[in-house]
Amino acid sequence: QNEIYSAGIHGRTPSVPTDFATLERRARARMSRRGWAYVAGGAGEGRTMAANREALDRWAIVPRMLRDTSDRDLATDLFGQTLPAPILFSPVGAGALAHDRADVHIGHAAAELGLPYIFSNQGCAPMEDVAAEMESVRPGAPRWFQLYWSTDDRLVRSLVSRAEAMGAAAIVVTLDTTMLGWRPQDLNLGSLPFARAEGIDQYTSDPTFWEIVAERLKGATKEKPEISIGAIKTLLSIARNVPGELRRNLTAPEPRAAVETFLDIYSRPSLNWDDLAVLRELTDLPIVLKGVLHPDDALEAVERGVDGIIVSNHGGRQVDGSISSTDALVDVVDAVSGRLKILVDSGFYTGSDVFKALALGADAVCIGRPHMYGLALNGADGARDAVANIVAELDLTLGLSGQSDVRTLTRSALKRL
Ligand code: FNR
Repeated sequence: QNEIYSAGIHGRTPSVPTDFATLERRARARMSRRGWAYVAGGAGEGRTMAANREALDRWAIVPRMLRDTSDRDLATDLFGQTLPAPILFSPVGAGALAHDRADVHIGHAAAELGLPYIFSNQGCAPMEDVAAEMESVRPGAPRWFQLYWSTDDRLVRSLVSRAEAMGAAAIVVTLDTTMLGWRPQDLNLGSLPFARAEGIDQYTSDPTFWEIVAERLKGATKEKPEISIGAIKTLLSIARNVPGELRRNLTAPEPRAAVETFLDIYSRPSLNWDDLAVLRELTDLPIVLKGVLHPDDALEAVERGVDGIIVSNHGGRQVDGSISSTDALVDVVDAVSGRLKILVDSGFYTGSDVFKALALGADAVCIGRPHMYGLALNGADGARDAVANIVAELDLTLGLSGQSDVRTLTRSALKRL
């Protein structure tokens, strides 16, 4: 991190802008209209995204002086791994909207920093490819896998066993996207199906997925609702990877059944707490629930023996007008009082933001859009530097606030305004 800081003060131009506003603006200029809408957009009128920012601004850092902060420690322990900083790369699906084979480049970036990358279930590259890339950069580079719970448990089993085989250190189950939120920016452009088509390689690289598709196509006789051109594009993307036998079915005159089959398979709106027991049976890996906002859900997670949660409103992309990640974090930390690991994401874009999350009681912070923007601007180097800048600013904020260790930060470092 110090390298980036000294590069800055010595007048060299960093590979991506060092502030979020400029990073976002430059990325926008580089991305397609549809790609930008999908990545930057939020749910509804954007109230949750705004709330994420406002809630962070309601907490002020109160620096302490004369405390010798020359020796600072950002290292954090998470599920038996020691990370160089309490920061992870959030899972982002449909990354090809920002860069070809995005996940491979983001994996490369995360491995360079030694920070975990949570592979998305909606990745545009198979997890094995991303893991191989990370291994080539740093053997043992930490990686997690994020699961959308399919309507078919066979796919869940297959994805989890692939995740174990490729070296995942934890399984993240995303709870808040059993259906896609109301996203006007994509809806107005009619581009959601196009966006979804950029995030299906994780599925199409899975033989079990194709078994399920084949089964469901055979049974698809009932009347189906209208589909859009975009849905057909989704289908064609699926068809690129399809085994020969199935290709004939998929390119048959009635493609809508296949598209809807994909949408039907990927996520289960009926998911409930009891389903999680299935996962506990399947794997010994730590289980982390993403999208917890209510303290009672956090308590239920404790009861059910879950290992960690990510307090998250999905970057403000799911429920418009929902509680901010920071307000939810405070309630969840108080309810759980150390009984499981608490991560947080949604709107943490600077070192100062991360400092506040840690002081409020988070064990680590996940970063979403910044690494996507860095990727759009400058590939793997851009994704790396977008996050490295946050780490560097965290280090400085720590020292300048009279703190030396992220693990001992408490709310006494903050004042609520
Ligand atoms: C996401 N997010 C997400 N989450 C998840 O569990 N699986 C996924 O496939 C995706 N896909 C995805 C795509 C894009 C383009 C974005 C912006 C986000 C949500 C993500 O993991 C994270 O919760 C938020 O991005 C965090 O908010 P910030 O940092 O983007 O404000």
